Amino acid sequence: MLIAGNWKMFKGPAETGEFCRALREADLGTVDVVVCPPYVSLAEAVTALATTEIGVAAQNVHWADDGAFTGEISAPMLRELGVYGTIVGHSERRQYFGETDDTVVRRINAALEHGLQVIACVGETEAEREAGETEAVLRRQVGAIRDGVAERDELVIAYEPVWAIGTGKTATPEIAQEAHAFVKTILDVPVLYGGSVKPDNAGALAAQPDVDGALVGGASLDLKSFATICREASHS
Ligand code: PGA
Repeated sequence: MLIAGNWKMFKGPAETGEFCRALREADLGTVDVVVCPPYVSLAEAVTALATTEIGVAAQNVHWADDGAFTGEISAPMLRELGVYGTIVGHSERRQYFGETDDTVVRRINAALEHGLQVIACVGETEAEREAGETEAVLRRQVGAIRDGVAERDELVIAYEPVWAIGTGKTATPEIAQEAHAFVKTILDVPVLYGGSVKPDNAGALAAQPDVDGALVGGASLDLKSFATICREASHS
């Protein structure tokens, strides 16, 4: 069971250091724990969490090792910092920054080649779910990853229905289970659930047989709620 905190564009280096030093002392149950701070705070997180089992991952990575790609960060650069993994293809990147299934695959391959663990995000929008297109969207997004990525040992999928992200509308455990089982028929890797995971729903979601963890946004920014989510997921 993996619980990853996606901090998005929150917490600069000072706040990150403070949070991670407190996280070291917190009771996180028995799950694997990862935090994903913004790029500028990664070094601080790596330092503050050194000698612990808590992993530090980035929120994105470029496909090239280096080059004329203004504003991008490469996998070797992340490795040099001591970062252990990265999120790729988050719906906010797909929606606002032109991420496509093709660029997602390129980023995943670069990350895996350089020894980074990857959390690759997929999920349908509200309009797609209402139009009955959830399976078609997942088949396209997960199928692109299956067809484009050969080495899958360090690959995890996060099923994050876009309508549940930051909205307080969580998928029911049954909806999550159904989608996770479907994703695994396409690509058999661990699948995390993401989208308004909170202390009071983490246990029920994690109890589903095909839910292998959670990618937590808003609720991962508060130490008490993040630690509670980790403990709740440990019980299931
Ligand atoms: P949320 O975000 O928990 O705030 O809904 C999840 C995510 O976007 O990874």
